[in-house]
Amino acid sequence: MSPHRLRVDREKSKVKDEDVIKTVEEVFDSFTNYHIYRLKNTMKAFRELRGTISAGKEARVYWAKGWKGEDVAVKIFLTSSAEFRKSIKNYISGDPRFPSLPSKFRELVYLWARKEYSNLSEMAKAGVSVPQPIAVSGNVLVMRFLGEGGLRAPLLVEAARELEAEDLERMLEMLIKDVESMVCRARLVHGDLSEYNVMIWEGRPWIIDVAQAVSLEHPKSRELLERDVSNVFSFFSHWLDVSEREESLRRSLEGCLESR
Ligand SMILES: Nc1ncnc2c1ncn2[C@@H]1O[C@H](COP(=O)(O)OP(=O)(O)OP(=O)(O)O)[C@@H](O)[C@H]1O
Ligand SMILES: [Mg+2]
Repeated sequence: MSPHRLRVDREKSKVKDEDVIKTVEEVFDSFTNYHIYRLKNTMKAFRELRGTISAGKEARVYWAKGWKGEDVAVKIFLTSSAEFRKSIKNYISGDPRFPSLPSKFRELVYLWARKEYSNLSEMAKAGVSVPQPIAVSGNVLVMRFLGEGGLRAPLLVEAARELEAEDLERMLEMLIKDVESMVCRARLVHGDLSEYNVMIWEGRPWIIDVAQAVSLEHPKSRELLERDVSNVFSFFSHWLDVSEREESLRRSLEGCLESR
């Protein structure tokens, strides 16, 4: 499948590179610029920022080049949003992996970035298809880029209309296996799983945006898992008959939750 078309002008890429770096320096404070510098020059996690992939309320994602010429994704969490502060706290307190909450908001965002890094590592180890994390420093996370040449892969919500029923069946099966591995092996619940946080690349779904994922011990884990499963099946139910598979996944997840 062709990557989602984004306005990346290769002809003018040199000019664009400078623009990106300038914008990054203007948008982010000196702390963030320090972490970008550290990841580039000390940790060698990437060589050069190339283009903006996404500019959301809580984070920005950039396309960058690694030292071997490979594409990488750089996710920068914003340290200036009051709403973000509230949502971060809800997903951290109660998770035994993070027993104490830092009082400074900046430190909380750093913890959030490290949480996404460790969730990605734990999920990848459990066999879930997530972008491999590369490095984290402060509020900046570097991971594998899904897509090529600066064109990101399509989200499930964008790709679904171009997929045949047969492909959708396969995508759903793979996603079900990933949710099972995430819960039963990594012992984590995504917490914001939907067609907007799954990318389609190399013929399979990849789960992204895992900063809020909580461990099964978190008081809200069941409620979040319930919502994740409902989101996935209600999306696929536009094209497929999913009721049996939904029931079977719920039964198997129940088994894993009980064997805690
Ligand atoms: N590893 C990656 N490779 C390519 N593109 C990515 C990658 N990770 C994220 N993206 C792109 O960046 C977008 C935002 O990433 P993500 O979902 O992780 O952040 P977010 O917290 O949802 O940000 P927002 O505040 O925009 O909701 C994704 O929808 C996707 O288009
Ligand atoms: Mg997202």
